[in-house]
Amino acid sequence: MKEILFRDYVASDLDALMVLWNQVVDAGSQPVYSLSEVVASCEKDVAVVAVSAQGEVVAVAVARAAHDQGWIVFFATHVDHRKQGIGDRLLAAVEQRLAPQGLTRISILVPDDQLNVGVLTRAGFKDKKHLRYFEREIPVRGKEMATLRELGGRILSRDLWGGIAGMVEEKDLLERRLVLPLSNTSMAEQFGVEAPRAIVLFGPPGTGKTTFAKAIASRLEWPFVEVFPSRLAGSPEGLAGGLREIFEKISELDNAVVFIDEVEEIASQRGGEPPSPTQGVTNELLKLIPAFRERPGKLLICATNFIRALDDAFLRHGRFDYVIPIGLPDAEARRSIWEKFIPESAGELDLSTLVEHSSGFSPADIEFAARQASQMAFEKAMQGGKHTGPAMSDYLDSIASTKTTVSAEVAEAFRQDIENLSRT
Ligand SMILES: Nc1ncnc2c1ncn2[C@@H]1O[C@H](COP(=O)(O)OP(=O)(O)OP(=O)(O)O)[C@@H](O)[C@H]1O
Ligand SMILES: [Mg+2]
Repeated sequence: MKEILFRDYVASDLDALMVLWNQVVDAGSQPVYSLSEVVASCEKDVAVVAVSAQGEVVAVAVARAAHDQGWIVFFATHVDHRKQGIGDRLLAAVEQRLAPQGLTRISILVPDDQLNVGVLTRAGFKDKKHLRYFEREIPVRGKEMATLRELGGRILSRDLWGGIAGMVEEKDLLERRLVLPLSNTSMAEQFGVEAPRAIVLFGPPGTGKTTFAKAIASRLEWPFVEVFPSRLAGSPEGLAGGLREIFEKISELDNAVVFIDEVEEIASQRGGEPPSPTQGVTNELLKLIPAFRERPGKLLICATNFIRALDDAFLRHGRFDYVIPIGLPDAEARRSIWEKFIPESAGELDLSTLVEHSSGFSPADIEFAARQASQMAFEKAMQGGKHTGPAMSDYLDSIASTKTTVSAEVAEAFRQDIENLSRT
């Protein structure tokens, strides 16, 4: 066998590493670890190269230790130097360097279509059958977390979308118009679909606008950043400057759902003498939205109970892709909302009757009525009554005493708003 020297990797071996990396990739193999991870391990973990008599690097093996296990993160022999037993000796050299770290085993993941694994079995590695590799990318990491904290943003739990009971039509619309193009951008582009950048949700109080905004963020696995324009008053540059600063910070994030609730407070009809103090903010927001739209990966959601109060310029085409009504829950939605708030102890209930009697209730009204029934039953039990959960009569009493948030007039106004202003 020709003379081969094994030594630790040094920074000047990077070019040779790149040659080997490209050979692996050109052969159609998808390395398990990324190049940046491999290079990082070369610098701070264990990396050994095999050098030919001509001084050429002909093979490299890179490994790192994690707890009591060593992982080979990259391992390749130059195509002109295979089948010479270099790989076996290289693995042995890596093992020698890892052993003093108290490791109990060394593992290597290879793509399942990689054929030349003989070197591994020769070097004593066992092929662990019936193992599959799963991975998931962490959506927000590192320095983005600091920006997110500064903005008071957060990563919401991943199950909020599933937690929205009923509202099948709204969910279906949001899924098709927002979630699909935003999570499959390149496919959408191929079809000439531009992913939405900004939407308005409108509807009577308590119908679930905030809930939907959060659920969309959760569904997309994007951080949720709520902007409170009214809290910007303390900013040295005033409300408008504060808003501008926040949007600048937001642009540092790769992805975000940006939420402005009760947007009518800052984007109501302009004009009037003297101009209202929020007029500057309205103007600023109108300017910020086009710039916001230019950067992909973010979605602005504005919510309002009072869409007709919004400035005309605000709703004009080009700013918001969709203006979507979120209405009162239908029977199916009411049923699931009731189910969500009725405790197990309630036993058998006639749900259909509750659904029927709560027609015109918002989700928030149902939640209120359900909790009130629980409270009434609980108080009775504490006063020495039966120790059973809330009964049908508790629910019916509670429904009867609940004042609905959405009056007939409000419902009618909403119907007109859908006709005049919605854009779906
Ligand atoms: N589809 C739903 N399923 C279950 N609970 C819901 C649903 N929609 C809303 N809720 C609940 O109803 C309450 C009110 O919802 P939310 O705050 O999202 O309404 P909103 O439209 O933002 O109200 P507002 O106009 O007052 O801001 C919340 O407690 C929420 O959890
Ligand atoms: Mg809300």
